[in-house]
Amino acid sequence: MSDPAFERLRPYLEQPQGQTLWVADENLLTTRINPSPLLKAITNRYDLAENLKRQDWSALYSDYDFSVHTDASFDRVIYRISKEKPVVHHLINQAFRALKPGGQLLLAGAKTEGIKTYFSKAKALFGEGDCSKTAGDIWFAQLTKTSTDMSALLDDQNYTRIRAVAADEQFEYFSKPGVFGWDKIDKGSAYLIEHLDQFLMTLIEPPRSALDLGCGYGYLSLNLSHLDIPVTATDNNAAAIKACEYNFNRYPIDAQAVADNCAEQIAKKFDLIVCNPPFHAGFSVDGDLTDRFLKAAHDHLESRGIACFVTNLHIPLERKAARWFKQAEVIAANGHFKLIRLSHGN
Ligand SMILES: C[S@@+](CC[C@H](N)C(=O)[O-])C[C@H]1O[C@@H](n2cnc3c(N)ncnc32)[C@H](O)[C@@H]1O
Repeated sequence: MSDPAFERLRPYLEQPQGQTLWVADENLLTTRINPSPLLKAITNRYDLAENLKRQDWSALYSDYDFSVHTDASFDRVIYRISKEKPVVHHLINQAFRALKPGGQLLLAGAKTEGIKTYFSKAKALFGEGDCSKTAGDIWFAQLTKTSTDMSALLDDQNYTRIRAVAADEQFEYFSKPGVFGWDKIDKGSAYLIEHLDQFLMTLIEPPRSALDLGCGYGYLSLNLSHLDIPVTATDNNAAAIKACEYNFNRYPIDAQAVADNCAEQIAKKFDLIVCNPPFHAGFSVDGDLTDRFLKAAHDHLESRGIACFVTNLHIPLERKAARWFKQAEVIAANGHFKLIRLSHGN
């Protein structure tokens, strides 16, 4: 599905003038643009980086760490704004550092996404710029770096710092901006853990290994540690993997975090899979993503294993799961979430 905000920026990538850096976010996962020696990309999504590398792009996968690029080395930075404010602020600050004097930052996004406020803050940092409406709700902003004053850098809530964000009787959870629901415990995931024993009771034998599919900062993985089995946690987001590794190092647990797209590169199968699947890719609701998570669970589940999913009540996950699993059963629900047990029916 094409994104009207990105379409406004596309011509600048198709006909780059000068050294250009494209900051690509998850909402651009399927975008195709021809590579050019003038173009580089940076993204925090593993699948997007892989997709671009397959198209011969010079694409860097990291938690938006610009330190590999020399300061003041780009003529242009192109960025379709992200969903979360600290991410956008961090990226505007990084663009300021990466641009040569007189270099340009091009932004696009919807008014409801805060593009006009981002523009005003960026203009105070950059010195010059204008912002105009292009179509519908979409705005396009052009900023020129005429200032060298770093005191107007935007508040990115200390983007790179991993910090304690929540705690319960068992664990203290560390996380950072850029991770899904980074500063709290997700209520759906907490609900899954409350009912974990109810899921486990349905296994013929205790599980020997577990997969946390779409692990975020690792909440579900940490809450499997009392089972004393190896846990593989996977996510496509670089910030999530960083936070997850940090959490795993704080406790004596056998868990590893793997950056991947829906566990594609993980060859192992597991007795237990836990998953709170995403249903948004960027700004759009992505039904296909739910299906890809179900397929990944199917492909990675041992014949006698179970996959434990939690979703919002309105998502027809058990119906979609029928395509992949012999058994798909809602084992509990409250006013907001439901817990679904999936198995191959052996
Ligand atoms: C609803 S969150 C759940 C996070 C975590 N399990 C928790 O309970 O807090 C879904 C996670 O799926 C991840 N995700 C989205 N697309 C993915 C993909 N293609 N492959 C792997 N993970 C993905 C997101 O980055 C996010 O961390």
